[in-house]
Amino acid sequence: MTKFWLPMSLVIVMALVLGGLAFLPADRSTAGEPPAGGAAGFKPVAPLLVVMENVDDLYGEFPKIIREKDKDKDKEKKQLERLKKESQFLAELFNVAYYHKPEKDWQDWAVKNREQFQKLAGQCEQGGDSKSLKATLEAIDATCEACHTKYRDQDKK
Ligand code: HEC
Repeated sequence: MTKFWLPMSLVIVMALVLGGLAFLPADRSTAGEPPAGGAAGFKPVAPLLVVMENVDDLYGEFPKIIREKDKDKDKEKKQLERLKKESQFLAELFNVAYYHKPEKDWQDWAVKNREQFQKLAGQCEQGGDSKSLKATLEAIDATCEACHTKYRDQDKK
């Protein structure tokens, strides 16, 4: 009997776990807040400057990707997929940037950039109309700038 029930119980446990996972929404974060769970004890390992340099390397390509998308209709889908993927990754980098400082305004700007990149990813999914994409890029720029004015440029004085 155990010969049957031991593997069988494993199968049942696996099915329950996988079944449960399927019911989790893709984005479990709540607007305006860091994602629930995992926050306690989370510590970024890369220096902020390294995070920022990588943000800039990817984000700096965004206007070019949008131009390429508009130039060649055959490549539109591919460019939108790339833009979506990189927006999601940048959202994750700001999700981490949140933990670099405890100040509320710092964390608010990190959350704002995260949400704006999530919005951009969503726009890519919904056809990626260039005018809307560019409007979101402008909003993103304003957030980068707001945080830099206080936390980057101030420090250099
Ligand atoms: C929550 C605050 C915050 C946000 C939001 C933010 N940054 Fe930064 N950024 C900083 C700080 C602080 C530094 C300086 C880091 C250092 O010198 O150690 C920095 C540095 C940089 C640098 C490096 C400049 C240099 O000295 O080489 C670049 C590039 C950069 N950020 C781009 C961006 C872009 C693009 C965005 C928006 C998409 C952005 N940042 C959003 C805080 C922020």
